[in-house]
Amino acid sequence: MTRRFRFVPPAGTPVSVADVLSSVSAALTRGDAVQQFKRDLRAYVGVRFCEFVSTGRAAMTLALLALKALDGGRRNEVVIPSYTCFSVPSAIVKAGLKVRLADVDPVTLDFAPGEIERLDGARVLAVVATNLYGFPNDLAAITKLARERGMYVVDDAAQCLGASIGGRQCGTWGDVGLYSFDKGKNVTSIDGGVLVTDSEPVAEAIAQQTYGLRGCTAAESAAHLVKLVVYAALLHPRRYWLPNSLPFLGLGTTAYRTDYPLAQYDEWMAPMGHRLLGRLEATTAQRRANAERYERLLPWGPKLQAIVPRQGAVPAYLRFPVLIHPEYRDPVLTALRANGIGATASYPTAISDVPELHSDLRAGDWKGLGGQETARRILTLPTHGYVTDQDQDRIVNVIANVLGV
Ligand SMILES: Cc1ncc(COP(=O)(O)O)c(C=O)c1O
Repeated sequence: MTRRFRFVPPAGTPVSVADVLSSVSAALTRGDAVQQFKRDLRAYVGVRFCEFVSTGRAAMTLALLALKALDGGRRNEVVIPSYTCFSVPSAIVKAGLKVRLADVDPVTLDFAPGEIERLDGARVLAVVATNLYGFPNDLAAITKLARERGMYVVDDAAQCLGASIGGRQCGTWGDVGLYSFDKGKNVTSIDGGVLVTDSEPVAEAIAQQTYGLRGCTAAESAAHLVKLVVYAALLHPRRYWLPNSLPFLGLGTTAYRTDYPLAQYDEWMAPMGHRLLGRLEATTAQRRANAERYERLLPWGPKLQAIVPRQGAVPAYLRFPVLIHPEYRDPVLTALRANGIGATASYPTAISDVPELHSDLRAGDWKGLGGQETARRILTLPTHGYVTDQDQDRIVNVIANVLGV
């Protein structure tokens, strides 16, 4: 087999055809798969309440609508990091609220020091921590500072299921947390989002928002099943070169969109997600071992810098992000791709540079340099279970060659 016919996807979680068959058979025979999945997820992360919905961005929109209702509509700004997934600001706009940015520190990908302290509690409804790539933010500090200012905290652990900080699971800090079950996540059911909370009033407010959501249609369920079969069949590096060579699929592209539905979770997909939750510790252990190897082998120096986990954090390493000198990023990405490795430049811009948000974002003296620097320098490497030691050695060699170190 030539290298052209091996391509390591940038993200994803191995799912076998046997997994798909067992999940479909469980969906046909067991009526209570969603209840079992919810019960086990609650027990795993350690929360009292959880609600499943159609996607992580729907979960974020509904979480914000719930907080807005609890606040009586007094405050309308939501603070997010200046560099994060575009789904986060789109969920805020969809909830009828305004995006406000706090800058990030590229080295931790967390809020930069002093950014929460400067916020005005009279207008800010909530602060959202987004824990990118499976790296927990300093959630104890964010929660404390936000609460002192009377703001709610949303612990968005869409990318961080299975990670913890200070011995507590990511997603369970703050007033409401969320997880995503989309295709790039450790626990996937192709689509899906989860809201979690330990607060009874918040749980009640969430129940009011989710009550009456439309169900998943037969066409949507059929599409999920087809996507799951394709995912199981083509994610393997021996076959991923095929979808990867079809640019019209737009794999890995990020767009700002607000036209997604707020709907119920697709219960037919619950057995698949539940199965992967049972495997989460093993999946995460494998990612951590791959991350540890990158940490040991990559040619760190002025041109290549590591992301530093926050103190007390045990990251889940959904991906392995690094900061690379901007001059070398495109050449490294091109060389890695030519060598069959799906590395990415992650989100294309800082949130302040998303054109749809320009009119919404405050002008003033805020520069957001950390977000822009992150957007210019970040590069993510794959950590999933299909990444072999040989792949990692190749990645390290390619990067060292391009950097000339
Ligand atoms: C930080 C963050 N929040 C929210 C979401 C939205 O999740 P979903 O893709 O399930 O809608 C994502 C998507 O990956 C994300 O990365």
